[in-house]
Amino acid sequence: MKIKKVLQYAKFLLEEFVCEGDIVIDATVGNGHDTLFLANLVGDKGKVYGFDVQEPAIKKTTERLNENNVLNRVTLLQKSHEFIDNYLKDEHKAKIKATIFNLGYLPGSDKTVTTNSESTIKAINAAINNTVSGGIVILVIYPGHAEGMIESEDIKNYLSDFSQDVGHILQYGFINQQNNPPYILAIEKK
Ligand SMILES: C[S@@+](CC[C@H](N)C(=O)[O-])C[C@H]1O[C@@H](n2cnc3c(N)ncnc32)[C@H](O)[C@@H]1O
Repeated sequence: MKIKKVLQYAKFLLEEFVCEGDIVIDATVGNGHDTLFLANLVGDKGKVYGFDVQEPAIKKTTERLNENNVLNRVTLLQKSHEFIDNYLKDEHKAKIKATIFNLGYLPGSDKTVTTNSESTIKAINAAINNTVSGGIVILVIYPGHAEGMIESEDIKNYLSDFSQDVGHILQYGFINQQNNPPYILAIEKK
């Protein structure tokens, strides 16, 4: 299939937007795959902030970054992403080129620790407010589980009313897959 799958498309968007030296955020580090991808995109002069509420996620990601010799490019925080503002250095505020949210729960772990609409929407706003003009906020949304379905509906309702003056919002996903497949919403900031 030549059409990119959802996660491939999220990475494609990151590659399109992120350059060496950029400041970026992984709002849900999980096992650290996206964090590593971002650390490689920003290079030695860039910076990645990574947020996750779970200690095992931070530990796994630290190991992954260390094995790949890029831990020095990343600040990992065991904090909820709704508090992004509290943890960005002053010189990085409103300078973020890209943020990715890969929502839901950590694969292979406690499924009750999952992202939820209330904190996710606060975090989306914090991310958008800190994004430079021409930057992007990418959401990978998983309506295939109960909490994910609620989160999906709430985020879509919220972003459908979002001012066009702030940015364009793209939806990307497949409409004939079974079991409510994941999809992307991406906000390109004006
Ligand atoms: C689907 S996983 C992320 C996968 C990850 N991007 C990767 O590449 O492996 C979702 C993660 O969000 C985390 N999470 C849940 N609520 C959160 C919150 N309020 N703030 C930050 N992370 C949260 C979970 O602990 C989980 O590790």
